[in-house]
This record gives sequence, C-alpha cells and structure tokens, in this order.
Amino acid sequence: MSTFVRNAWYVAAWSHEVGRQLLARTILGDPVLLYRREDGQPAALVDRCPHKLAPLSLGELKGDHVQCGYHGMTFDCTGSCVRVPGQQNIPPTARVRAYPLHERYNAVWIWMGDPALADPAAIVEVPRYGEPGWGLVDGQYLHFRSNYLNITDNLVDPAHTTYVHKKTIGNAAGEDVGVTVEQGDAHVLAYRWIRNAPPVPLVARMGNFRGVTDRWQYYYLHLPSTSYVDFGSIDAGTEPSEANKDSGFRSFSFNFLTPETESTTHYFWLHLRNYHPGDPKVSADVASLMALTFQEDADLLAFVQREQERTGVREYTRLAIDNAPARIRRMVERLQAAEATPPGPDSRA
Ligand code: FES
Ligand SMILES: [Fe+2]
Repeated sequence: MSTFVRNAWYVAAWSHEVGRQLLARTILGDPVLLYRREDGQPAALVDRCPHKLAPLSLGELKGDHVQCGYHGMTFDCTGSCVRVPGQQNIPPTARVRAYPLHERYNAVWIWMGDPALADPAAIVEVPRYGEPGWGLVDGQYLHFRSNYLNITDNLVDPAHTTYVHKKTIGNAAGEDVGVTVEQGDAHVLAYRWIRNAPPVPLVARMGNFRGVTDRWQYYYLHLPSTSYVDFGSIDAGTEPSEANKDSGFRSFSFNFLTPETESTTHYFWLHLRNYHPGDPKVSADVASLMALTFQEDADLLAFVQREQERTGVREYTRLAIDNAPARIRRMVERLQAAEATPPGPDSRA
C-alpha cells in the first residue's frame, strides 16, 4: 500500500537544476519532466508520451513545447498536444498531465495531488530566510535509499544524535536526557535541553565557548515530510529566552523530503545560522559538516530499509523515544485516508 500523501507541496528540484534542458525525476512514484519556459517560468509534465509511453525527457525542447523523441508528438506546457506529425487531427487522448509548480526559497515546489487544491500559501515558512545576520547554505541534496517515513521517524528523534552524529552534532551528554513531545494540527515537535554539557564537535569548532553549555534541540516535523530543526548552545545557566538563543550559537536546519519511490527519497536541505553569517569559508565548512551528518543518517537508514524489506517488519520493540515518530505516522495515515481517489499520473487526467 502506498505511503504517499499527494495533496501537499514537495520540492521537485532546486531552482538552479531547472533550465532549458529536460530534467527527468521520479516523484511519488510518477515520472516527472521539468524544464523552464522561455519566459523563465518552470513547467512540469508527466514524463511519459501517451502514444507508446516513451519518456518525453528523451525528446527535445522546442521553444516552450516538448517534442517526443520517438515519433515527434509535441506538447505545450499545459500538457495539450499541439502537433502529431503526419496527421491533421489530434486525438482526444493525446494529452499529458501537467503539475502545478511554485518557485520559492530557490526551490521549485510541485503539487502531485488534486490541482484545484494547490495553494502556494501552504508552502512551509522558512523563518530568517534572506534576513540580514543569518548565513545561508542552500541548494543541497542527498539521495536516501529509504522510505520517507523512516526519515521522518529520524527527524523527530533528537535522541539518535548522541549515537549517530558523534563527529558533529551529538555527544554523550545527551544519553539519558528525555524528549518532550508536543503536537499541533499539522506538526509534531520533539525537544529537549541538555544542560551543563560540553559543546558538541560542530559547536566546539565554530563557536566561542570557554566552558560548559546548555544545548537545545527542537525537532519540528510539518506534515507530511518537512523537517525543521532549531538547535544551538548558550553558556550554561543563561536564561533560555529567544533573544538569548539568537545571540548564542544558533542554527535552523530545513530538510524537505520528497518521496521518490516507496523505498527511496529525495532529501533537499538548507541551513541557516547566526554565526559568521557572511563568511563563505564558514558556509563551506557548515555545508560539509551537515552533509556528513545527513549522510550518516542516509547510510544507517539504508540498512534499516533493507532489514524492513527482509523481515516485513518495521519494529519489534517500541521505546519512549518513538512517541513523536508514531504520532507522525498516525497523522500521515489520516491524511492519506482523507485523500479520496487521488489523481494518478494517467496521461488522460
Ligand atoms: S511514443 Fe511519443 S510520439 Fe510515439
Ligand atoms: Fe540524524
């Protein structure tokens, strides 16, 4: 059974990836073709010709039209067929599905569900994006060999950082610190404070702390699969107000998960920080440390996926730290149940 939620905005690509070449990408199991029109607007069609099902991405972009590379049928950016070589009439079945898109945060967002529900206002907010005093690393991507819900499990689970990310954002000080969970209509938050703790390696390397710190980890998961992590450190004993956190060592890490198939996921990420915001060397350092951190998750979750497929079981044992992941899974199931027969990639849709 599918685990996908179709009525949601997903990152299809970073803006810089979408240009005047045909970009093929599988999204929620559908073959999708992305390109940019001559006026600069992005377009997305099902990457499957209605004639013999050849991928349209093997064809050519002619102005704003896509010409199939097999027999030359040509489609405009709405999916209507505008030419069938060798015949005058255009069969009524000769159209492909076009997907609503919206460009924001240097990313091209796609709506895979009912087009009538595609409201760009529903795209998740990224606070501090583009604000002075906040350094940005964006345009980042990893491919995960795991179902996206294993990744959402991981992204509302601050406890794993102690064990998986010892080189960057975790250390032993967090071992016995519990996690508190809060739930909203469309998000779950799992958080904890680790007090009087030595800084984690990333903070020790880039921060300015002489003694122990109080460290916060706030892991938000917006349905169905946008993760937003607020983490940072302040001198131990400092009042944990927003203003003090902003003048401490603070990061906002956004991970946009786009299911590719049931067993693989596109992982687009960006990172905002308040330290050395304009320093490109620090940006490069943050980019490589966070990429290392997420690759640690990707490597681990590929093994988890493999064992799930081998056993047909997701978990034999449930722990207290699974409260937030279990809530997310229940909420996703409710969203799926609410989606009455979603439109698929049928070219006649
Ligand atoms: S398969 Fe596309 S025109 Fe024949
Ligand atoms: Fe992780």
